Amino acid sequence: MQTTAKVKAILFDVYGTLLNPLSIETQVSQLVPADGLQFVTLWRAKQLEYSWLLSLMNRYESFWQVTQRALTYTCRRFNLSLTPTQSQHLLDCWTQVAPFDDVLAGLAVLQAKNIHLGVLSNGNPSMLEAGLTNAALRPYLDPLLSVENARVFKPSPRVYDLALQHFGLDPAEIGFVSSNSWDAIGATAFGFQVCWLNRASNILDELGFVPAYQTTNFTQMVEIYVKSED
Ligand code: LAC
Repeated sequence: MQTTAKVKAILFDVYGTLLNPLSIETQVSQLVPADGLQFVTLWRAKQLEYSWLLSLMNRYESFWQVTQRALTYTCRRFNLSLTPTQSQHLLDCWTQVAPFDDVLAGLAVLQAKNIHLGVLSNGNPSMLEAGLTNAALRPYLDPLLSVENARVFKPSPRVYDLALQHFGLDPAEIGFVSSNSWDAIGATAFGFQVCWLNRASNILDELGFVPAYQTTNFTQMVEIYVKSED
């Protein structure tokens, strides 16, 4: 285990970790005559499933396109036929995803400690730029590393490798935070010092890799990395 190296940069997953995809339920409920939470939950699940399937097929489409396909499927499952304008409104919700309550304050603490902070996300660059700007998190985060440059989705090691290319650091010098257990596991397998931000108190998947740290909230995660710097 290389978990003793000093972390020189921390990268965050975006959807589910900094921004809460289920927060778009309110906008969605205004547009679809269905249970908004069920609708968004299926939409999100299909979005991720399609990203994995495309990666296994050696095909790449932007996360925005994947999100669009997942929306089409979800509408069919809910028996909804939307106009192109309504579909576009729903899709645009992905640039308006609200941050989790504890994120802004936590990023400010880490920034004050002069730790380099960025994101490494499935989102394509324009989606990340708009989403993080609208959530008021953009000033804390640079770079916004997107899978678009690897043309494959997480948890492919080619994605995590983008961070090494960017920073010129060893994997163990990079902290990585994700609420998505499969992403935390993938990043651990790659060699990052990972914190699984297990907000939902789920059980870790049995894939043979256990993240260095596990917390249920952003504040605790911040304390862990700050302490590891001392
Ligand atoms: C991301 C996906 C996992 O932000 O939601 O990379």
